[in-house]
Amino acid sequence: MTETAAAPLLEVSDLRVEFGNPRHGDVASVLNGVSYQVSAGETLAVLGESGSGKSVTAQTVMGILDTPPGRITGGSVRFKGEELLGADPERRRLLRGESMAMIFQDALSALNPVYTVGAQIAEQFRFRRGMSRKDAMVKAAELLDLVKIPNAAQRVREYPHQFSGGMRQRAMIAMSLALDPELLIADEPTTALDVTVQAQIMELLDELCRERTMGMILITHDLGVVAEVADRIAVMYAGRIVEEADAASLYAHPAHPYTRGLMASVPRLDGGGGQLDPIPGLPPSLSAIPPGCPFHPRCAHAEDRCRSELPSLRALDDPDATGDDHRAACHFAERFVGASPEEVLTP
Ligand SMILES: Nc1ncnc2c1ncn2[C@@H]1O[C@H](COP(=O)(O)OP(=O)(O)OP(=O)(O)O)[C@@H](O)[C@H]1O
Ligand SMILES: [Mg+2]
Repeated sequence: MTETAAAPLLEVSDLRVEFGNPRHGDVASVLNGVSYQVSAGETLAVLGESGSGKSVTAQTVMGILDTPPGRITGGSVRFKGEELLGADPERRRLLRGESMAMIFQDALSALNPVYTVGAQIAEQFRFRRGMSRKDAMVKAAELLDLVKIPNAAQRVREYPHQFSGGMRQRAMIAMSLALDPELLIADEPTTALDVTVQAQIMELLDELCRERTMGMILITHDLGVVAEVADRIAVMYAGRIVEEADAASLYAHPAHPYTRGLMASVPRLDGGGGQLDPIPGLPPSLSAIPPGCPFHPRCAHAEDRCRSELPSLRALDDPDATGDDHRAACHFAERFVGASPEEVLTP
């Protein structure tokens, strides 16, 4: 298939999802044209406040969006060139686990308390690889060892409650890697963990992706968490990508006032950056997204044009961009891309 040989691992284009019932007029436009790509071996971090559509995008990619209430109303999800939206459910089921896997936010509730951790990992080898119980447990122990759980051969027989939070998250990672996926989606994999353990889990994910040339989508609302591991960052707001760049350019030259706002609201690792300023106001209701730029009611720089004209996501001239295009959906992005954060935050 030469025409797909150069296709990225995952290509999401103009994805649109609604919740609610159009007949009752209570439709929430949750995804409003989300596009992003992930290549093999690349980590894309997806950032944004709660409710911006990060998880719904991931669920649509995985084919696990609840439908109804969710409805995919447009766009495309291609995995190595193959269109997944509308694909046969059996094909989707096969791809899940084998080709793409997802780690969920809450490892405690994702593990079943009545089975040993090992048995839960081994299940995939038994049912998808036809292995004996004994061989599957050996593989499970190898995976626990791979995710750096000490004494894996013993601990494989323990129950989830005997594992610490960090170890449970490691076990979830082990489970997601069992069938050697090419794409891993980690949806807030560290939110329930303390800061030191968060850093260890991030380091582990980063290492595993590099070793296996696995593509990863790392979903988080914590900019601090992704600094070390992301190759590229996409920032979501109200169901759209509002800025995307390689990680270094995004940190050095954030071009969207929303991205700048997110950066000003997290502590900097080097202790610099002065006081923390949360973004004023709240994200819009997805059943009444304001006209123009959806961020304009919260933006200190909004002008008339921002209240009427939706900015498209367009490439910027960022002389320091190290990799891909730096793109932002702000009418005045050029004004901000070279400015210091303070200049932009205080009008
Ligand atoms: N099953 C559902 N029924 C109705 N609305 C839903 C459903 N799932 C998600 N939504 C809505 O879709 C929007 C986007 O949700 P999503 O879970 O993708 O946000 P998120 O960016 O992952 O946020 P968080 O950081 O809190 O996880 C939210 O407004 C949410 O209320
Ligand atoms: Mg989420």
